[in-house]
Amino acid sequence: MKAIIPAAGLGTRFLPVTRVVPKEMLPIGAKPALELIVDEARAAGADEIVIVISEGKELIRKYFEGQPDIRFVYQKEQKGLGHAVLQAEIDDDALILLGDALVVGCCAAKEMVEVSKAHGGAAVIGCERVPKEKVSRYGIMKLDGDRIVDMVEKPAVEEAPSDIAVAGRYLLPAAIFGYLKTQTPGKGGEIQLTDAIRRMLSERDAYAYVYPGKRQDIGNPDGYFAALEAYRGINQN
Ligand code: G1P
Repeated sequence: MKAIIPAAGLGTRFLPVTRVVPKEMLPIGAKPALELIVDEARAAGADEIVIVISEGKELIRKYFEGQPDIRFVYQKEQKGLGHAVLQAEIDDDALILLGDALVVGCCAAKEMVEVSKAHGGAAVIGCERVPKEKVSRYGIMKLDGDRIVDMVEKPAVEEAPSDIAVAGRYLLPAAIFGYLKTQTPGKGGEIQLTDAIRRMLSERDAYAYVYPGKRQDIGNPDGYFAALEAYRGINQN
């Protein structure tokens, strides 16, 4: 299994600091946030980590350069999450950890690997419950037990099949890259990872795992403050 960390986003919700500092490099104590995600990937057993960056985010490269088993690829155009992941194409199972999603208080990725094993190596998507009024910000699951029947990217409240949302972590077979290559733009005119997974469901089983930790979206100042609070709590324990 290899890990892919998409970190190519422009950070527009976190300007002006993101003009020079990628949001993923903002500190959580003495470590950049991204290093906590790299640690999570390693703890889950990833033997190589591919970080997807874009022009102007070379600070990420500079920081991690020289660390074993990490390499970088560029996303040259902002065409969506699915497109970003495709730039990192690998021929192995892909553990995808979004670079602006910290999971505090558990090791979501490691637990997802266990869940996958329990389901004979099937795809697993890390999820959280969200308030009904916020479903339009997320990929939302339609489930039969914990098996994913369908999923829809950022539905309107009245169209959402549940309140179980994709929460920044995915464990997918290498076959996902085939679907991404033929994926047409969806919500927001972007190539959505959700849409490619959705097509994959007709041929392969996938399961939702509501992980116990709390996801913190560090892509905006409020989420970043919340992440700092959460980690300070852990350090004090
Ligand atoms: C992405 C995914 C979405 C997911 C969300 C949080 O959206 O497209 O399905 O629920 O991350 O993990 P974004 O926040 O990049 O718009």
